[in-house]
Amino acid sequence: MFETGIDSDGIAVIKWNIPDRPVNVMNETTMAGFRDEVERAIADDAVKGVVIASAKDDFIAGADIDGFLEDLSVEALLPQFLMFDRVGRAMETCGKPFVAAINGHALGGGFETALCCHYRIAADNPKARIGLPEIGLGVLPGGGGTQRIPRMLGLQAGLQMLLDGRKHTVDEAAKMGLVDAVVPPGELLDAAKKWALDNPDASQPWDRKGFRLPGGNVQSQAGMQLFPAANAMGRERSFGNYPAVQAILSCVYEGCQRHIDVGLRVESKYLVNMIRHPVTKAMVRTGFFEMAKARKLKARPEGVPKAKIGKIGILGAGMMGGGIATASAGRGIDCVLKDINRATAENGKARAAAPLERRVKQGRMTAEQASALLGRIAPTDDYADLDGSDLVIEAVFEDRAIKASVTEAAEARLGDDAIFASNTSTLPITGLAEASARPANFIGLHFFSPVEKMPLVEVIRGARTGDAAVATALDYVQAIGKTPIVVNDGRGFFTSRVFATFVMEGIAMLKEGVAPALIENAARIAGMPVGPLEVVDNTSLGLSLAIRRQWKKDLGKAYTGHPADDVFELFVETLDRPGRKAGKGFYDWPEDRPKRLWPELGRHFPRAADQPDVGEVKQRLLHIQSVEALRCRAEGVVTERADADVGSILGWGFPMYTGGVLSWVGQTGVDEFTDRCNALADKHGERFFPPDEVEALAV
Ligand code: COA
Repeated sequence: MFETGIDSDGIAVIKWNIPDRPVNVMNETTMAGFRDEVERAIADDAVKGVVIASAKDDFIAGADIDGFLEDLSVEALLPQFLMFDRVGRAMETCGKPFVAAINGHALGGGFETALCCHYRIAADNPKARIGLPEIGLGVLPGGGGTQRIPRMLGLQAGLQMLLDGRKHTVDEAAKMGLVDAVVPPGELLDAAKKWALDNPDASQPWDRKGFRLPGGNVQSQAGMQLFPAANAMGRERSFGNYPAVQAILSCVYEGCQRHIDVGLRVESKYLVNMIRHPVTKAMVRTGFFEMAKARKLKARPEGVPKAKIGKIGILGAGMMGGGIATASAGRGIDCVLKDINRATAENGKARAAAPLERRVKQGRMTAEQASALLGRIAPTDDYADLDGSDLVIEAVFEDRAIKASVTEAAEARLGDDAIFASNTSTLPITGLAEASARPANFIGLHFFSPVEKMPLVEVIRGARTGDAAVATALDYVQAIGKTPIVVNDGRGFFTSRVFATFVMEGIAMLKEGVAPALIENAARIAGMPVGPLEVVDNTSLGLSLAIRRQWKKDLGKAYTGHPADDVFELFVETLDRPGRKAGKGFYDWPEDRPKRLWPELGRHFPRAADQPDVGEVKQRLLHIQSVEALRCRAEGVVTERADADVGSILGWGFPMYTGGVLSWVGQTGVDEFTDRCNALADKHGERFFPPDEVEALAV
């Protein structure tokens, strides 16, 4: 587990090397082992200083996240955390210098181990990430991070680091003062040993007499100004949905007023509560494990050789087509961007160039990288240029006839193994595949807008789609650095269908006379990125109306209708307020001023005398999505809870604290969820009735 050796100068090197694990992680066993190594080195008179290092490519990747899903008691957890605090304090105060030789990732508890050292040297490793990302998992940095970071950086910069949870490059970490020196990888151990030899009397600033926090203590004027503002900002960001935000603020506020020994105990107590919290469990399960499994293509059919995607064709150079081209070319894939005439195709490429210019201006990309990327996008009006493509993605207008004609024309140019994908957001794939001569190679690849930013791709398997097409599509999604979920065919598939319920519910409430500001704010307080009225303004009410009409036509008598339907009609047909692009929808969108809810909304939807409370609106907006997701699972559109959870968070920003749209049912409690939905159904309509066997569908 540890490779420890003492050199002739008396410097002990304790190298982490946890067997059978891809990275060094900290759990009960490895921490006990580390404690023994540290205690031995401290007790050994021959040891003059200690270097903490790693024999793996990473330094230490932090707490063993596998353990976060276990249901451990306070009595089982607290002693472990207090033990780690004692080891850290022994390193700091034993009178021997401790140096961290950071060769790769030093994250969470791994970086906190380094913080217990008197000096931190990092190898100049561009892949390494350094930081305290715990907040992203719903916990707080509980290995001393909330106490040592503010004591090193000051309260303001410290809080910022703890609350944003970013993983920093070595350069950034050096600039922030998180590491003291950066050296070439080959010189790391020698540099660490040298520092230990040169600094026999090392101590931590907070153990020196008269220590004050940089920038002022908690009770200083600066501190007193900082905390109310930080509290308000934390509240604004989390709306109380992420308990770790409050816990971090409390740890810093309470712990940094006291001696560090007391501060560490304060932190451990908060950590125990956070690790046991259902929000943490949900965030870890979906945000860490399930998303990683999706990225690693857990759904890829076995036995199909890995596809190498060198060239793709994109049909339709609109916003989606251009975005797909940028995302693909950015990962080294040659793209043919085809539209009906050359000028339109060139325009599509020009649109793709705009975000790149911004990235260059912001220093996130060099001009050479941008021009190399654009060089890989070839605009054309000629199907012949698709020759040799491994994959063609159509991103033309949502119209079956147009899609059928481009499918036929493109397939005529494709090799036997090439895949044809439709980027439809709503039209069932099995029906679109009727235009294909090779339906086994026909698949849905639903991208989200803006493509460059949105991390999810929904891969849709039609009734006749073959395994090879699924595997190739997944290889492509992975190659462009996005996360896939695989779903079965159906109207709106999974993401469009479930997300639509959020928008429609918001509009239904507007029609009932619920105050529009209440609807919009409750959505954000529930954790949705944007309110339902704003979101439909952004995507266009006209588009929603067209989709609803198509569904109605396709379903015939089976179409049950929705209270929001005639609101779309009213806004698009009668009021001519089709959404943001036109400058008017549920909001006014003036060019020179911020948007505001259309003041006339009250005239069309008179305010009901009885307004629901925020909690009820929040619940309605989240529960309706979970009910629809349960239906999707009952119908086999999604086959696993994880796909629904990952798809909802990455696809449309369903709040992370829920663990995703199906995990939300479990977090609410199956019985409570069912009772509540039944009550909502009685009041607002059958759409709230959950399917049978909620428990089986939600796990
Ligand atoms: N606990 C348990 N397992 C961990 C882990 C941790 N802290 N960090 C990484 N792993 C595992 C991953 O699950 C993965 O396992 P698998 O191969 O069985 O799928 C493996 O280590 C490699 O991780 P992966 O994410 O695939 O590699 P990467 O090179 O892309 O990224 C890290 C490496 C360390 C940057 C990334 O895994 C990470 O961010 N880990 C979490 C760090 C963290 O949040 N620490 C604080 C915990 S409170």
